[in-house]
Amino acid sequence: MRTPIIAGNWKLNKTISEAAALTTALKASVANVSDVEIIVAPPFTALAAVNEVIADSNIRLSAQDVYSEDSGAFTGEVSAPMLKDVGCEYVIIGHSERRQYFGETNESVNQKVKAALAHDLKPIICVGEQLEERETGQTEVIIEDHVTGGIAGLSAAELLSCVIAYEPVWAIGTGKTATPAQAQEVHSFIRELLTKTYSADVASQLCIQYGGSVKPENASELMSQPDVDGALVGGASLEAESFAQIVKFG
Ligand code: 13P
Repeated sequence: MRTPIIAGNWKLNKTISEAAALTTALKASVANVSDVEIIVAPPFTALAAVNEVIADSNIRLSAQDVYSEDSGAFTGEVSAPMLKDVGCEYVIIGHSERRQYFGETNESVNQKVKAALAHDLKPIICVGEQLEERETGQTEVIIEDHVTGGIAGLSAAELLSCVIAYEPVWAIGTGKTATPAQAQEVHSFIRELLTKTYSADVASQLCIQYGGSVKPENASELMSQPDVDGALVGGASLEAESFAQIVKFG
């Protein structure tokens, strides 16, 4: 019912030529895939080059962040209309690294989500608890806070243009993947939350990705969970071979 979405978040990696080469190799490896939505999220500087490589392919373009204003005196920022102009269909918002290092809050995430939606960009909204929060039993409180804060004020139709990515911070770049059961528990919690705030029908349509040390070896088991609808992949998306293997998890 829900099409799986596999997205590669390249973070602060790849020059323009490296990005084009990676995308060219990926495009060939996944050319036959039609049952999965495939997304790459290069750094801003490589978006235009990657967009050229993926023209007429089954790969979609995402940015890694967006600013909430469309234009003006905001040195260093990039706006939703600019991302649309360069070929983006998606934008990652509220990644834990932005929350941790760049002061991103639920409020700024929510403003960015609304700015993206206003320009027909699909937000991939990241939520996730830190290790200490998990160990002290606060996982659900944190997830509820991130989800409700990030999507505050959205209509059902707007919510359904979004993707939610559950990324436990302790699993990002650590090689420590959440177990399929741990992922499923949080994904189903998110879906229950959305059932309460929207409806069972809306909640059942929303794509919820898992992120945090997803590799070719663990992708299929994670994705076999009923509420895990895809993956947001960091390290393993930096090579065409490993990302293609994850895309072909089934
Ligand atoms: P890793 O796959 O490198 O753990 O990164 C996950 C992530 O943060 C994707 O957004």
